[in-house]
Amino acid sequence: MTTNATAGETEEQELEEQFVELLEHYRGERGALVPLLQGAQAIFGYLPEDVMRRVAEATGEPLSKALGVATFYAQFRLRPHAKHTIRCCHGTACHVSGATRISEELEKYLGIKIGENTPDMLYTIEEVHCVGACGMAPVVMINDRAHGKLTPEKAVEVVRAFQAEAEGSGAEVTAAAEPAGNAVEVEA
Ligand code: FES
Repeated sequence: MTTNATAGETEEQELEEQFVELLEHYRGERGALVPLLQGAQAIFGYLPEDVMRRVAEATGEPLSKALGVATFYAQFRLRPHAKHTIRCCHGTACHVSGATRISEELEKYLGIKIGENTPDMLYTIEEVHCVGACGMAPVVMINDRAHGKLTPEKAVEVVRAFQAEAEGSGAEVTAAAEPAGNAVEVEA
């Protein structure tokens, strides 16, 4: 127990050090809000209010401006994010090919709503705009891999296969097995 607490504290300390270094790098630079927020999110995984407050202070901008930027750009997360991200594409091609039913089926399967994390913090589901693989619509991305030509049932199958691989091996998995549909790496 003590060991875990110590490991957690050390990790926290390391993140704090990285964050301080980042703040110092951009301190006083107006217009550095976006790279600072990106850097902070890369460190913490999301943007807690306290982090945004310190980012705003470092650039001499008001907190309201940092909040405005963070909420304007889809890349920023204001809440903790689970380890793996499942993105249901709702661009036009995917929308007309049944994306809504796929999202609903995945919500049901994971027991969470779009934008939420599973209680074990392993999965987040998001709805996103076109991920650039319209030819294989409807598409669901699991981390950086796109799975296409899905039905709601196939989407669940793909997620289940990913879970089996990720949780079975205990390893960091970015590419799922491909039991259904097509899969391809996509820059998200
Ligand atoms: S609309 Fe879904 S990949 Fe383009």
